[in-house]
Amino acid sequence: MDLKDQIISERIPRHVAIIMDGNGRWAKKYGKPRVFGHRNGVKAVREITETAADLGVECLTLYAFSTENWNRPRLEVNALMSLLVDTLRIEINSLNENNIRLNAIGDLTKLPKRTYETLMEGIEKTKNNDRMMLNLALNYSGRWEIINAVKKIAQDSKNNLIDAENLTDAVFEKYLTTSGIPDPELLIRTSGEYRLSNYLLWQIAYSELYFAPIYWPDFREEDFYKAIIDFQQRERRFGKTSEQL
Ligand code: FPP
Repeated sequence: MDLKDQIISERIPRHVAIIMDGNGRWAKKYGKPRVFGHRNGVKAVREITETAADLGVECLTLYAFSTENWNRPRLEVNALMSLLVDTLRIEINSLNENNIRLNAIGDLTKLPKRTYETLMEGIEKTKNNDRMMLNLALNYSGRWEIINAVKKIAQDSKNNLIDAENLTDAVFEKYLTTSGIPDPELLIRTSGEYRLSNYLLWQIAYSELYFAPIYWPDFREEDFYKAIIDFQQRERRFGKTSEQL
């Protein structure tokens, strides 16, 4: 049976988050500069976006640039920012044709002006699309997001807009960059590393984790199907016992 046929269409995760890791090592394997890996990583982004939308995933969040990634060599940071601008310009029509809405989370105003403007333009142009949200985590880190939320809560508390005594999970979530988006049910990391790398730390409290031993540029449609099938075989207990489910 085809892998796709093994997928239970009624149990597709609403939100899948991905740590696209291994671009640099993929390039090294071919004796090429790291940027060659990122360029080929974009092909995987395109394929997995289409695959996720076809399956009925509602939101796909991709870790495209972390707050720690600024520490990479300047040449690589500049190349990643340019790649992002070029990709968004090329792909925006295709996102519209496929009814996919672009969104971004992270400290976006600190991005280079051209990257920020192209991103905002893409978000604006696709804002009415409702088949799937392609959510790019850019200049993002989980700890930054949590601190940012706490600062806003402190401000609102000072202005008597919120009673900090009554703070709940649901209220806290409204202060996160993912407000209104369901938590990821599935988190995929490629490249064979077993780390969370400061990604969606609040939101993944109950996510199922899937680690693929494949560098991101090699991650194909079939690999995404395998992750979904694996997810569908898990028993999600949320602290309860099997018998209670
Ligand atoms: C991690 O691999 C990859 C990144 C930090 C960047 C991901 C960016 C892209 C795939 C291209 C742009 C994305 C979009 C959404 C248009 P790594 O460089 O850390 O690889 P390594 O661990 O092998 O060094």
